[in-house]
Order: sequence, then C-alpha cells, then structure tokens
Amino acid sequence: MDVNEVERLIKISKEHPLMPETYIPWDVEPKPEDIFLPEMLTSLHGFEIYDTLTPTQKLDLGRHELVQVIASYAWGECLFCLFMTRHILTLPLDDVEHRFLLRELIEEFRHQEMFGQAIQKIGGSPIKQSRIHKFFGEFSNKYLPADYLFMGSVSVELVTDVYGNYARRTPNIYPVLKKMFDLHNIEEARHILFTKSLLKTYSEKAGYIKRTLYSYVILFNILFVRTMYVKKEIYERIGLENPQQVYKLAARNFKKKFSETCLNDIIKFVDEWKGFNRATRWAWRWVLGAKV
Ligand SMILES: [Fe+2]
Ligand SMILES: [Fe+2]
Repeated sequence: MDVNEVERLIKISKEHPLMPETYIPWDVEPKPEDIFLPEMLTSLHGFEIYDTLTPTQKLDLGRHELVQVIASYAWGECLFCLFMTRHILTLPLDDVEHRFLLRELIEEFRHQEMFGQAIQKIGGSPIKQSRIHKFFGEFSNKYLPADYLFMGSVSVELVTDVYGNYARRTPNIYPVLKKMFDLHNIEEARHILFTKSLLKTYSEKAGYIKRTLYSYVILFNILFVRTMYVKKEIYERIGLENPQQVYKLAARNFKKKFSETCLNDIIKFVDEWKGFNRATRWAWRWVLGAKV
C-alpha cells in the first residue's frame, strides 16, 4: 500500500468534507420535466413495451427503480460499515489503514443518511431485500476474510460509480439527485483509490487459486448488485397488466444492458491482476454476459 497516497486521501477527506446537509439543494422541488433515472438505465427501456407507457408511467418507473438502486447502495454500505468497524479493531489507532477506514466510515454513514433522505424527498418506498440477498450479504460479511471483502467492496463501488456517472450527466435529472450522485462520486473515488492500493499488496502475492477465488468473489458481488434492482412489484405499482411476464423479460434485458454499460472498469481491474483464467472466464461470460 502506498502510504503517502493514503495520507493524501485522508487529508482531502478532512479538509474538504462534503456535507449532504448543505451540498444538496434539498429545498428544490422536481420540475415537471425532471426525471429520476436516465431512461436508458431503466429496466424496460429498449423494449417495445416501454413505448406503450404513458409519460407518468415512465417517470414512475424511473422513480421506483432509482429508489431501489439507492436503497440497495445504502444497505450494502451499512453492511460494509459493520465489517470495517470489526476490521479496524485489529489495527492500531495510528496505523494509516485504520485512520483511512475511520474517514471512510464517517463518509459512508453520511451517504446512508443522504440516500434515505433522498428517498423520502421523492416519496419512495423501497422494496426489502429478498431473503437470499439478506442471507448472502450477512453471511459473507461475517465470515469472509478481509481481502475478499475489500475485493467485493471495490467491485460494487466500481460498478455503482458508472451508474452514478450516467445519472449525474443526464441533463434533466432532478437536481437533488444530481448533487447526491456528484457527492457520492467524489467520495467513492477516494475509497476506490484506497482499496485498490490496499488490494495491490494482496493480489501481487496471490497465486492461481487465490486469483481465481478473488475473481469469483467479484463476480458474485456484481451478480448480487445486478439482481437487486429489477422488481416485479415495481411493474405492479405502475399498473402493468402482466407484471410477472414483464419481470422475466426485463430481468433478461437488464442483464444485457448492465453488461454493456457497467462492467468496463471492473473488467479492467480484474484483468490487471490476471483474474481471468480458464476457471473464471466462462463464468464471467455465462453469468454476467461479460465480454472477457
Ligand atoms: Fe458510499
Ligand atoms: Fe465507499
């Protein structure tokens, strides 16, 4: 790990904190032309059925799916905070990793509060995680070693970062959400730099088997994230006739869209330490539809 680089990141975090309370224009109400999620990121865009939706249904689809996205972030970040809290107990207080993780914890707690407030602001009502998501989330958080959990976290951060970037660059995105994604993007960029630097030490030492395992941990984390957004209940809420059927089509459509839009950075990262090999490549192609 590059200690000077991490010291620099700690310094920025302390000297330029971004407070959701003041950074985000919470009093601004959405204008009629504002949207909540770029159309291309919604699960139905690109389908014939999307063109049959009324403008209100399209807006609502984006609103519900955006809520699902940020509620999932908040849940994942809360789980990761649990891990970081346990992990720093094993490190001396003056250790640079300990000190950075304290900054990350502070920021992640602010993010969770910010996501919650944004959901409230747009009148969202997140659908709870499925039992299988809850089980795997909590199980892996408790029992996986630190290097695997950091691998998981950087993969989720890299993937969700892409998502946020699309959202904040969309011209008519609701300003509260734009600033929320701006803030998140700036702070997550530091977390990503830190985690990559930390993981360099691990991946350099890793042999074939460990690289294979790392690659699988990342793959499952991405699958985990991808399957949290598309929900049958959302199609019911916007009044579609065959929600179950739409759900099936949408899940397949979203897999393709997700692999085309969100995987580039994470593929580059895995490739850097040769995480694609004969044991992993097929799974990335099959499970995630990745071009590797
Ligand atoms: Fe965050
Ligand atoms: Fe983070």
